[in-house]
Amino acid sequence: MATRYHEVYGAWQLDPEAFWAEAAREIEWFSPWEKVFTPAAEGFGRWFDGATCNTCYNCVDRHVEAGHGNRAALIYDSPVTGNQKTYSFAEMQNEVSMLAAAMRNRGVEKGDRVIIYMPMVPEAIFAMLASARLGAIHSVVFGGFAANELATRIDDAAPKVIVSASCGIEPGRIVEYKPLLDEAINTAEFKPQTCIILQREAHRCSLTEGRDADYAEVVATARAEGNGTECVAVAATDPLYILYTSGTTGQPKGVVRDNGGHMVALKWTMEHHYGIAPGEVFWAASDVGWVVGHSYICYGPLLHGCATVLYEGKPVGTPDAGAFWRVIQDHKVAALFTAPTAFRAVKKEDPSGALIADYDLSHFRTLFLAGERADPDTIRWAQERLNRPVIDHWWQTETGWAMAGNPVGLGTVPVKLGSPAVPMPGYNIKVLDDDARPVPPGTLGNIVVKLPLPPSCFPTLWNAEARYRSAYFEEFPGYYATSDAGIIDEDGYVFIMSRTDDIINVAGHRLSTGAMEEVIAAHESIAECAVIGVADPLKGQIPVGFYVQNDGTNLGDAALEKELVALVRQQIGPVAAFKTAIKVQRLPKTRSGKILRGTMQKIANSEDWKMPAAIEDPAALDEISKILKARQDSR
Ligand code: COA
Ligand code: AMP
Repeated sequence: MATRYHEVYGAWQLDPEAFWAEAAREIEWFSPWEKVFTPAAEGFGRWFDGATCNTCYNCVDRHVEAGHGNRAALIYDSPVTGNQKTYSFAEMQNEVSMLAAAMRNRGVEKGDRVIIYMPMVPEAIFAMLASARLGAIHSVVFGGFAANELATRIDDAAPKVIVSASCGIEPGRIVEYKPLLDEAINTAEFKPQTCIILQREAHRCSLTEGRDADYAEVVATARAEGNGTECVAVAATDPLYILYTSGTTGQPKGVVRDNGGHMVALKWTMEHHYGIAPGEVFWAASDVGWVVGHSYICYGPLLHGCATVLYEGKPVGTPDAGAFWRVIQDHKVAALFTAPTAFRAVKKEDPSGALIADYDLSHFRTLFLAGERADPDTIRWAQERLNRPVIDHWWQTETGWAMAGNPVGLGTVPVKLGSPAVPMPGYNIKVLDDDARPVPPGTLGNIVVKLPLPPSCFPTLWNAEARYRSAYFEEFPGYYATSDAGIIDEDGYVFIMSRTDDIINVAGHRLSTGAMEEVIAAHESIAECAVIGVADPLKGQIPVGFYVQNDGTNLGDAALEKELVALVRQQIGPVAAFKTAIKVQRLPKTRSGKILRGTMQKIANSEDWKMPAAIEDPAALDEISKILKARQDSR
């Protein structure tokens, strides 16, 4: 099919408000907007001001009312427990409505925050939708984060209720959530009134008297009372959720998502970007704790009337590298969305892709990749083995949907390996130099998006409006600074090369090296430290720490490394994948005292590097080169 991309992008450029007003017709509003777009005095603006709506209504009730109550809405597939269960839209409406009633009984009202700290179980989705149903604001915290990270989020979001579970299940180990939850609540200054805890068979936990309620019991009580909940009308501009993401300091950024614009943008993407029809099965193999999980496990597919797959397993090891193909076959998945790292894991275990032939993939049309740079080798491998389009697309927690991609629903543009293709309608993407001047095509620079940002993009950071402005809008006035570096070529294709800040991308997970440095620096034996991202064939990047030991502390290198690794795991979580801490005599710094992390990273990645002119002591970089070379030689 010839692509309509240029025509549609052109239509958006010509009249963005008309474009989004048209897209908004796909949403059921309780009352219409007064203005499609209201520029704010500060220049950021709001979408669909004056309208009222409810996101849960559009994801669930609307489909039931339209006669699709019996259609599959949520397909839970859990190789780690051996369970599978499909919920129809009508069943989901009942589950969500009853949980919402239980939450309301515990005081949750419009605008209140609800933290969701859950593994990949249907109840996590029900909790998100129940919160949306009440007009409350949810904040899902990824299960791989430690108690300390949860505590930070509790203090910032001040939730009335936390919904959690007794445990998560990682291959080979049970992750007990309750001790983490208790520790987080003890650490946090803010105390939630109630925790609703889902007891899982794999491990049941004791409930804290006066605070905890059993999920199954509260839902059963609500059901017995027969009082469901109606969808509460909220303003389109009211927050739907807060999703914390790594920033340049230990304090995560609470990205806020509104209700109206978010629905309009996500609904548009399902047909036009992903090329999916209502009633089909969409699978985002991510986690509800990440933005991909929010947008494409929960909201996008449900808004579009699709069935969404919730997969509690891994690409490999549950039980093997054929897991993805098995799920695609069993549930007739039309499109799979995951991170390249998952495919690298599959490729490592099954290099020839032999397991693919064991399954019927006849319903499967397209593979979508995002979350980190999709290396051409992985894309080629997937294209050849699957014999289907493999679509890379680029986005961030801040936007909630792809800024650049290859729109299957509009007809794809030719693929250029290594590029997530072209800007999506809504995004006028530019590359600027450090002085905010546009660079010629093909030149590396700072990737920015011209304001205003389209629907679904974050209107603020929770409790941090000043940080919102300074982190994203000050460096390049009139633009949103993505903190990604890259190029746009002469054909308008975007290439994302690296981050310009201290964020690294580990197995598709966004992590702050600054936050890891804060944890390491707090150890009594550490004088100073630096953490950098080093290229890894499976995870894309892994963090490696360098530290200078305090004089007078006599812990051996191996013992200290073990303590530092344990500390990062305990403070940030296993997801940080921090396994290496290397002792050095001194850290390389400029004469003004700035640690030369960029140069260290180049050395570690065996890239070309030059001795920086402003270096304080060149011997520091020589020492790091020698240590890293000795480590590489010893492998
Ligand atoms: N709860 C508790 N612990 C968790 C967790 C969770 N929800 N998710 C991950 N962890 C733990 C893992 O068990 C692992 O612990 P370990 O150090 O004891 O082994 C650690 O966090 C690191 O996890 P991960 O980075 O996921 O590595 P892995 O080796 O377990 O798996 C992949 C590697 C590639 C298979 C896996 O990262 C994956 O499937 N990625 C898919 C991509 C994805 O989800 N991207 C998100 C954005 S799209
Ligand atoms: P997150 O907010 O967790 O989704 O992470 C966003 C970051 O992941 C971006 O700023 C990029 O650095 C990286 N990223 C996401 N998708 C891609 C992609 N398709 N190609 C390259 N980098 C990507």
